[in-house]
Amino acid sequence: MKKLLMIGACSIALHISQAQTKTNTQDAKMNAFVSSLMQKMTVEEKIGQLNLVTPGGTVTGSVVSKDVDSKIRNGQVGSLFGITGPDKIRKAQEIAVNNSRLHIPLIFGLDVIHGHRTIFPIPLGLSCSWNMDMIEKSAEIAASEATADGLSWVYSPMVDIARDPRWGRVSEGSGEDTYLGCQVAKAMVKGYQGSSYSDPTKVMACVKHFALYGAAEAGRDYNTTDMSRIKMYEYYLPPYKAAVDAGVGSVMSSFNEVDGVPATANKWLMTDLLRKQWGFKGFVVTDYTAINEMIDHGLGDLQRVSAEALKAGIDMDMVGEGFLTTLQKSLKEGKVTVAQINAACKRVLEAKYKLGLFDDPYRYCNEQRFNNAILTDANRAAAREFAAKSMVLLKNNNNVLPLQKGKTIALVGPLADNKRNMLGTWSVSGDPEKSITVLQGLKNVAGSDANIIYARGCNISDDTAFAKKVNAFGKEIEIDTRSPQQMIDEAVVAASKADVIVAVLGEAADMTGESSSMSDIGLQKSQKALLDELKRTGKPIVIVLLNGRPMTLTWEDQNADAILDAWFSGTEAGNAIADVLFGNYNPSGKLTMSFPRNVGQIPIYYNHKNTGRPYSGVGAGKFRSNYLDVSNDPLYPFGFGLSYTSFTYSNVTVSSPTIKQGQKITASVTVTNSGKFDGTETVQLYIRDLVGTVTRPVKELKGYQQITLKAGESRKVDFTISVDDLKFYNTDLKRVAEPGDFKVFIGTNSRDVKEADFKLVQ
Ligand code: NOJ
Repeated sequence: MKKLLMIGACSIALHISQAQTKTNTQDAKMNAFVSSLMQKMTVEEKIGQLNLVTPGGTVTGSVVSKDVDSKIRNGQVGSLFGITGPDKIRKAQEIAVNNSRLHIPLIFGLDVIHGHRTIFPIPLGLSCSWNMDMIEKSAEIAASEATADGLSWVYSPMVDIARDPRWGRVSEGSGEDTYLGCQVAKAMVKGYQGSSYSDPTKVMACVKHFALYGAAEAGRDYNTTDMSRIKMYEYYLPPYKAAVDAGVGSVMSSFNEVDGVPATANKWLMTDLLRKQWGFKGFVVTDYTAINEMIDHGLGDLQRVSAEALKAGIDMDMVGEGFLTTLQKSLKEGKVTVAQINAACKRVLEAKYKLGLFDDPYRYCNEQRFNNAILTDANRAAAREFAAKSMVLLKNNNNVLPLQKGKTIALVGPLADNKRNMLGTWSVSGDPEKSITVLQGLKNVAGSDANIIYARGCNISDDTAFAKKVNAFGKEIEIDTRSPQQMIDEAVVAASKADVIVAVLGEAADMTGESSSMSDIGLQKSQKALLDELKRTGKPIVIVLLNGRPMTLTWEDQNADAILDAWFSGTEAGNAIADVLFGNYNPSGKLTMSFPRNVGQIPIYYNHKNTGRPYSGVGAGKFRSNYLDVSNDPLYPFGFGLSYTSFTYSNVTVSSPTIKQGQKITASVTVTNSGKFDGTETVQLYIRDLVGTVTRPVKELKGYQQITLKAGESRKVDFTISVDDLKFYNTDLKRVAEPGDFKVFIGTNSRDVKEADFKLVQ
């Protein structure tokens, strides 16, 4: 037996060393190729490789690249983003390959964020599935469609931890939790890149926005961030690191400052941390004109900020052309070195090499794949499944859901029959015309089993000035020619004839996303007025919420019978919503961001500190950490989500009351499906370190398991806890586990948990 094991160990070692030899040989070949190419390049051509342009397509700033064709010809462009389609990409690539002096191919990138042509739920929605296989698959499908469309580089995943739902970009990330954020980061990189992005159905991913972009003060986009190193290391940096560890090919710098220096010129961040400590080997691209914006940050003129960016470790300049227009001058004046330019150029060329572009610059221009691999039935079916799995049931009084067949449904609301807003923000290649509305979905799923009376009921907002701002990318908020009262009256008539009201309410797609911060995150007045009148009909109200951020829903929680948070769920939104409403899919999503009761509670997140004056509820007396006018807890906590069935949890047991370095213990619970439907539950494990040399949060997610139980079925769920799960960053920024008392909590969300104790002993 021992002998066999030895042979096994030897063959694994042999395998590893063979793999290492293969990598070393590949690296040596790449190095030889890139350095021989670089020997032929002029400094101008090297700087050209650092220039990323967009001829239009996705414009997220005040600058658009000019004279793109002639710049490509002159070797002044390294990569391009904003165009799709093998025909267009082939033409642009031909200019580089046939007309530039050294024939160096371009990389073609795009914002592929939650699907490419087949749009999946927004990332915040996807994260609520807590299903990493599904998230990975969504990235894999996106990669397959993107490469069929000529692309080889995607600006995703966005892994910015966010605790402030006023920030519109919470829709693009995975919420407030670091542990979950790391799992999502890994899954996305794996899905996009596969085992190697040299595979022409895979893309190079770009993790963003490095770093701390999600901590913008007051939730205002592009605003300043400022935080302690401990907070950075503990909560904000790990998801970027997880992406780097998963082999992400590129990193995008963020707009904000980090420790007083904009990320784009922050040498500590880009070189000391990212490259030296984390071992990142790919290239770093700036965000859109982020170099130029450092002039407004107050760091100097374009020449100076461009030099600072290069010296910090930035390799590619998105759109701003600071590198293109100033680096040669800086070189002559001794402000940057050839070695710094070479290092950046080498990293860009290496990415091209790894993508296989030097072997075949047109490998992503495959007309056949373009015709067969995009918006396929299989991809749409996946979108429908992923959407259903991302929805979160927030309330369900008296089991009003699932809807019964054979009833009359008043389907109301400005998002009920609305293709335009189904896809959500950052769906640049999604065609809203291909999306399924809720009205259509209900008809598809219920057929003749339901009588649906539709009335629009209200506008998303009646505020024309607000609508104009939101409608920057198209008419997402349409103000009806009927008066608000007329629309409400029509909805009330529909409701009076129905057994149940389904009100599809929420935000327009671009009320979240970039540059879409909101100071009031409740429903718009027009929608509240509609709900108010519907309430008076006395009919049961089901709210289907389409949104890109946690919203304040205190009134809705008190007055609606059911609330289903469907996020912006993509191309198959309507079908998936109907699947859930009619019980063909039993909702299983769990929130990855806390829903505040009001805006004044923000920032609000489950893994907060205890403070020296924790509030223990009414009766705690004065001088405790609380508000006079609202409780401390959120309306819906992190990890929360109901099901059509119910799950009961036994007490938590631990396999040993103590754990030692190098040991593991098991925490267990038995979960029973105590309701009438089969269902999927995400069992969550949290840990609290009761005493430390630095203050520790009241609990932290350290594991979860998704189990599917038939009605009446029970299952024991075991979690292994290792000493590594108890580690944190101390004041020396060392990750340590300190001996002492711990609590382990297991439950259905971060609030409703059962607990047990254990000790870490020396
Ligand atoms: C700006 C955004 O911040 C970033 O996420 C995006 O990838 C780029 N624009 C390119 O569109």
